[in-house]
Amino acid sequence: MTKSHSLRTAQPADRIDNGFFGKDVLSVRQFSREKLAYIFGVADEMRTLVRRFGSADLLSGKVLANLFYEPSTRTASSFMAAMLRLGGNVIPITEVHYSSVSKGESLPDTVRTLECYADVIVLRHPEVGSAQIAADYAQKPVINAGDGVGEHPTQALLDLFTIWEELGRLDGLKVAMVGDLKYGRTVHSLTRLLSFYDTEFFFVSPDILRLPSDMVAEARARGLKASEVEDVHDVIADIDVMYVTRVQKERFHDLAVYESVKDHYVVDPALMQLAKPTMTLMHPLPRVGEISYAVDQDPRAAYFRQMENGMFIRMALLAAILGKA
Ligand code: NCD
Repeated sequence: MTKSHSLRTAQPADRIDNGFFGKDVLSVRQFSREKLAYIFGVADEMRTLVRRFGSADLLSGKVLANLFYEPSTRTASSFMAAMLRLGGNVIPITEVHYSSVSKGESLPDTVRTLECYADVIVLRHPEVGSAQIAADYAQKPVINAGDGVGEHPTQALLDLFTIWEELGRLDGLKVAMVGDLKYGRTVHSLTRLLSFYDTEFFFVSPDILRLPSDMVAEARARGLKASEVEDVHDVIADIDVMYVTRVQKERFHDLAVYESVKDHYVVDPALMQLAKPTMTLMHPLPRVGEISYAVDQDPRAAYFRQMENGMFIRMALLAAILGKA
């Protein structure tokens, strides 16, 4: 959705219209292979910029509101770092209970308040569809930083960028999604994004944490191969990417059920020995035991590189949305 706000009235020389300018980022469905290639190219430039100079003044004078109703380390701080490294500023609202939210203020009113002060709003919220609601009310661009069990589009962008960086291609890959595929929003977004490419999926989970059936059907409807398995040993020798996720404790009504599945998969050196030497091991983090620390030194363990990529991707997106990329 294009927003009609003051950015639109900026002088042409003052901004670059790149297909992202002034737009919300709510779902990976908004992307295409061309748009992804563009963002990845800019992210690559952002990496060079950070390595060479640390920061730039591209977004000087711009303000980002970082509004988090759920906990976050990587997403909140990488959005903040991205803005600061481009010379912008941040209003961090990561403790909503200290804001007027605790007085009962609604999401629409909170975003309409913040957009009086900021040029772009990053929102994480426990309810599916909350980012869309915020975007419906806000004139300024809204970026979905996770809406409950729905989507986490910027995470999927950095995940895909990492696969590209690690393996040098996005077509013809065998990808296993492992863990909590039911509640894991990063899996939902990444599966949709990978469906733009020639991907073969293996959805590896305990029975009660299977990927929602409409998502499996969606991948198959695009002509892609998708199988559901419970034992990671059935696929480990064959796959190019293993994307491991945490069991999402906060989404369970019955903690006994959580306890019964939480340690279902543990990636350790013995399992890694069965994988291809070229396989890449990813995790959106935080991990709570699914990947043992002993695996961290394995060159195939990409999760720390993956999280650094998050900052470059978010720098690219912010510059694009604010018309400076
Ligand atoms: C993920 C999330 O919040 O969905 N974390 C993140 O943004 N890197 C994954 C998770 O919490 O398990």
